[in-house]
Amino acid sequence: MTTQVQQRPMDERRAAAFADRMVGAVDAASLVLQCSIGDQLGLFDVMAGLDGATSEQIAQAAGVRERYVREWLAALTVAGVVEHDATARTYRLPPEHAASLTRAAGPDDLARLCQCIPMLAEAEQLVVQAFRSGGGVPYTAFSRFHAVMAEDSAAVNDASLVGTILPLVPGCPDRLTAGIEVADFGCGSGHAVNLMARAFPASRFVGYDFSPEAIGRARAEAAAWGLPNARFELQDVAVLDRVDAFDLITAFDTVHDQAQPGQVLATIARALRPDGVFLMVDVTGSSEVADNVGMPLATFLYTCSLLHCMPVSLGLDGVGLGTMWGRQTALRMLGEAGFADVEVREIETDPQNAYYVCTLG
Ligand SMILES: C[S@@+](CC[C@H](N)C(=O)[O-])C[C@H]1O[C@@H](n2cnc3c(N)ncnc32)[C@H](O)[C@@H]1O
Repeated sequence: MTTQVQQRPMDERRAAAFADRMVGAVDAASLVLQCSIGDQLGLFDVMAGLDGATSEQIAQAAGVRERYVREWLAALTVAGVVEHDATARTYRLPPEHAASLTRAAGPDDLARLCQCIPMLAEAEQLVVQAFRSGGGVPYTAFSRFHAVMAEDSAAVNDASLVGTILPLVPGCPDRLTAGIEVADFGCGSGHAVNLMARAFPASRFVGYDFSPEAIGRARAEAAAWGLPNARFELQDVAVLDRVDAFDLITAFDTVHDQAQPGQVLATIARALRPDGVFLMVDVTGSSEVADNVGMPLATFLYTCSLLHCMPVSLGLDGVGLGTMWGRQTALRMLGEAGFADVEVREIETDPQNAYYVCTLG
């Protein structure tokens, strides 16, 4: 006997509106790819400095091929991002658009964020496969991960690390000025460590990451800046064996990526001195998906999770926490690791992250 499933009658207007939305989504996704290309090649930066120019002039200023630039400009013209004068054959990036698309915009440069989509898409076929067969994706599947991540976090840290973020920890700038021991877990390309080491020469900094590429980039920057107080170690932070070693430990956007996040938080608690502080910067939002409906960039963040953060953890036989583990889970896990006191702060230049100031109590 077959059971008939009663379908609700279809709302034709709702269906048409949704189809329109999907058409818009395909166009918007295409615009994101165009913006990623423009950002990587510095085309927006060049255009912001020219008040209307031909494709030849833009190509020459950017040092790239005119035929490609002309096709890119065509896409951005129909997308309404650049203005085109068909008679003069010129293209102009209005300053109101440049404010969201150029490096001069710092943390407000959304073209930089657009690079994340093609970076994530590198793993798309492996993720499709993992839906069927389980397992995960290795970090090495993402050829541009460290470059994109470094540029993204540097934009926030250049603008805010020393002046806004570190002062979230009571007394921190004074202690750093006097000279303390600091570790950054999952330091990636190490820019945050190098910024802190440059600003606080009396303190000593170590960055840990298990990626040789990231550690190489971090050491190269420290050497270029001539920093005697910054060092970087190739290290799986889940098995780091340090006790009572640090006055300040930072973890920028890395705990949710961990294969064993609980173990890493316990390692951090053990490595911290009794009066030390752990500053964990991690993606904001709720652990309940229903609470995140309507949150800006929520679809993007769950996409980062599905295509990168969750599968890299699962690929190491990890728990696959995911980008959107949320504040409730974060607070529970920090408590389980031994952090008796946790204050959650936010900053304007980094609305996607929560800043957890944690002490052992
Ligand atoms: C999302 S990136 C963040 C990098 C950097 N903190 C930033 O904000 O630019 C996460 C980093 O954690 C590192 N990582 C993940 N699991 C790790 C582990 N168990 N030990 C050491 N590093 C780890 C990755 O290699 C990657 O560089």
